[in-house]
Amino acid sequence: MDFKLSEEHIMIRDAARDFAQTELLPGVIERDNKQEFPQSLVKKMGELGFLGIMVDPKYGGSGMDAISYVLIMEELSKIDASASVIVSVNNSLVCYGLEAYGSEEQKQKYLTKLATGEFVGAFCLSEPEAGSDATSQATTAIDHGDHYIINGTKNWITNGGRADVYIVIAQTDRDKGSHGINAFIVEKGTEGFHVGPKEDKLGIRGSDTHTLQFNDVKVSKENRIGVNGSGFRFAMKTLSGGRIGIAAQALGIASGAYELALKYSKQRKAFGTEICNHQAIAFKLADMYTDIEAARMLVMKAAWDKDQGLNYDKSSAMAKLYASKVAMEHTVEAVQIHGGNGFVKDYHVERLMRDAKITQIYEGTSEIQKIVISRSLIKE
Ligand code: CAA
Ligand code: FAD
Repeated sequence: MDFKLSEEHIMIRDAARDFAQTELLPGVIERDNKQEFPQSLVKKMGELGFLGIMVDPKYGGSGMDAISYVLIMEELSKIDASASVIVSVNNSLVCYGLEAYGSEEQKQKYLTKLATGEFVGAFCLSEPEAGSDATSQATTAIDHGDHYIINGTKNWITNGGRADVYIVIAQTDRDKGSHGINAFIVEKGTEGFHVGPKEDKLGIRGSDTHTLQFNDVKVSKENRIGVNGSGFRFAMKTLSGGRIGIAAQALGIASGAYELALKYSKQRKAFGTEICNHQAIAFKLADMYTDIEAARMLVMKAAWDKDQGLNYDKSSAMAKLYASKVAMEHTVEAVQIHGGNGFVKDYHVERLMRDAKITQIYEGTSEIQKIVISRSLIKE
């Protein structure tokens, strides 16, 4: 067992840290205020290989491992979780799904562009009446021989407004339940496909989230991913990897808030001494650091499981459940350590606190992670 990062992993982490400090930090408050994330920054992340981290270089990816992925996710998330969710969705939910389950033609046509950042992807599972209960898909994809016709509504879709390629989950045969679901690739601009207005959110405000409408959208059979009826398992397997990314995002939000709180507590004086010398503050720092390290172990273990070719359904759910709890609890403490300054935007911790909340909701709420973990324990 080796708890030390390799030289290569340190280089990758430092490259992401440098990018986050130099490119993401300037303007992060303004982007949060204006609810925007410029395409120029997405392009830069693509140039650095952050949009196809684990994709095979033959498809334009960086060919890195899942450990590298979580290191990059943590560093970006310390500064800007709106940037890291773009990275997470593109890598885990879109590129991974296509590479693992797509046809060679789909990989050549879409993956090569998604892995380099020429294209951005979106993953469309959630619906107004099918969030946690994801098998209750109301969106239909009716088989018409050489093509399908998709009708329905998807909501909460990250990258909804900026994506070029959308992976859409839909019900083909209701009688077959979860075995009648398929995943399709829908291109931006396809007739009948409409992107609704951007959601006005509590956190990750730079990330664009939209409702999507599908009105008789024609999709050729070549754009179905995998064999007929495999769409739900495709979504579940893809989400297991996605949960490693979101766990790493939560870890980054927590560690970013901790680093700011530590620094502030060593500078701010009250009652004749730096506030870190008051035990109430020092103990908060001790709790934060300990919990963050524990979360890091779970995140790294899930990534390691994936790299080793082991099953990571349970370890990714555990990592997400725990890291998101740590992120929520300790960003609140980071605000507390900052006193009044924690309540204003200039000090960044209030944004981290707002951003932390989503990590307990998306890619499966904390309650859903407990379902996944407990079912796995009982089955084992
Ligand atoms: N791998 C392979 N197959 C799986 C699987 C997995 N990880 N999980 C379930 N399945 C299979 C089951 O074995 C079952 O197949 P059989 O009938 O052959 O046994 C089938 O799928 C249905 O599974 P369940 O009976 O377990 O289904 P369920 O209705 O009880 O739901 C659930 C299971 C885990 C709760 C699932 O619905 C779920 O994960 N819900 C949360 C949805 C979610 O995470 N959404 C995220 C949207 S994307 C997003 O949020 C992105 C973002 O924010 C950036
Ligand atoms: P519900 O499923 O209605 O849940 C409401 C509450 O009930 C939750 O606390 C939940 O945990 C609880 N609950 C539900 N069922 C159970 C149960 N069986 N046991 C115990 N508790 C239960 N989706 C996508 O497909 N693609 C995206 O890109 C995407 N991006 C998102 C971005 C943002 C900013 C947000 C807010 C959401 C995004 N989502 C996306 C949707 C997200 O995955 C869902 O919001 C999430 O899965 C929860 O579904 P819901 O909102 O319908 O809540």
